[in-house]
Amino acid sequence: MTPTLTAPATLAWSDALVLDMPVMDAVHEEFVELLARVVQAPDGELLPLWSALIAHTQEHFDREDQWMRATGFAAGNCHATQHKVVLQVLREGEARGHGGDLAVVRQMADELGIWFPQHAQSMDASLALHLRSAGYDPETGALAQPERLPQAAIHGCGGATCADTALA
Ligand SMILES: [Fe+2]
Ligand SMILES: [Fe+2]
Repeated sequence: MTPTLTAPATLAWSDALVLDMPVMDAVHEEFVELLARVVQAPDGELLPLWSALIAHTQEHFDREDQWMRATGFAAGNCHATQHKVVLQVLREGEARGHGGDLAVVRQMADELGIWFPQHAQSMDASLALHLRSAGYDPETGALAQPERLPQAAIHGCGGATCADTALA
């Protein structure tokens, strides 16, 4: 997440965020809704909504991390690492919010609205492609074409900052 000088518009769900993986898309749509509630929250409701967003994001990232582990990614691959770093930042915001600094939570919410489409359209899109290529069913964990997974553990993620690719 990089600081911005201008206040961005609230992130809205759109076709540009759809990755044709219904389980992932449903969670992403919930994330966008929860984030919008945070952005629009009055001060008195900001921290409970921020905590709800963090809990949802933890589950969201845990599921993607699990799909990665099930389909040949190394534990410390850059997509999983980015999840970890983002959650740490959100929890820092939560702690500072409870210390009375609501402005930092609002700034993080704005930055999250910029970060999320980038993440979804690079790392998550690449993961969805990888899962489809291996015939992985995120609902059941069934892997239809394990032979399409690479021999070596995957460290890359397909993100713009990552030279490696997640694809077999
Ligand atoms: Fe995601
Ligand atoms: Fe992700």
